[in-house]
Amino acid sequence: MSADHSRAARAIRQPVEIVRAGTPAKIVPLLPGETPPTGAVRVGTLPPLYPEWLGDRGFQAAHGTRFAYVAGEMARGLASQSLVTEMARHGGIGFFGSAGLAPAEVEAAMVALTRDLGRDRPWGSNLIHSPSDPELEDALVDLYLRLGVRRVCASAFMSVTPSVVRFVATGLRRGADGGVVRRNLLFAKVSRAEIATAFMSPAPAPMLTAPVVGGTNFGRPKPSSPRKFRSLKTSPRKPTPADTPTIGR
Ligand SMILES: Cc1cc2nc3c(=O)[nH]c(=O)nc-3n(C[C@H](O)[C@H](O)[C@H](O)COP(=O)(O)O)c2cc1C
Repeated sequence: MSADHSRAARAIRQPVEIVRAGTPAKIVPLLPGETPPTGAVRVGTLPPLYPEWLGDRGFQAAHGTRFAYVAGEMARGLASQSLVTEMARHGGIGFFGSAGLAPAEVEAAMVALTRDLGRDRPWGSNLIHSPSDPELEDALVDLYLRLGVRRVCASAFMSVTPSVVRFVATGLRRGADGGVVRRNLLFAKVSRAEIATAFMSPAPAPMLTAPVVGGTNFGRPKPSSPRKFRSLKTSPRKPTPADTPTIGR
């Protein structure tokens, strides 16, 4: 790529006039106000491209971001606290790389991020599937719920698990219009269509029924001291199947 081309590529928010000029003929990009070389023939115009326009506008609306852009969740804190902070400050969402860290290390990062960014700014943390250690997965969900981490990105899951459902189902309530309002937002990083389907579908009933009717164990063996979850029993109208929340957003 010539210096001219990289200069035009960096000016992504400006229209670029494309001309053909010289012998042998070269394609030359011109930014607004630049004079075309003698004998240049106009080839076309590239319209301005705003990174804010890329992706689905619904994403920005749901998360209050400037860009539909997510980064992070590289294990062992490689996707660090400062990466997450900078992503939030620059209008995207960063996920902390919690995989491979001890719960105490994740907790320290979550406390620091909550202090720096607050709970409502868009940021989150990874929840990596631990098939050989479901208690670790559960402990991380406990930690996220206890500290009020509102965005979690689930990765490496081969199916939806009780811990994932517990995260999204906790704090569900009815809005003034009777619709479901989520407190916790789940992203799922998937590479196969059937896993995407599982995350976009209503939660498996045995995992969801418990919290909806005021139960406490989300499909897991009963804990010795039951947790308290808000019941949706007081909803202003009877829930219909269409109200059943999907796992992810
Ligand atoms: C060193 C390293 C560690 C990673 N650790 C995780 C992880 O713990 N959890 C996860 O969901 N993805 C992990 N990833 C995947 C990244 O989050 C990302 O999805 C992947 O690198 C693709 O993004 P890219 O195309 O920008 O590289 C890791 C990637 C790298 C390079």
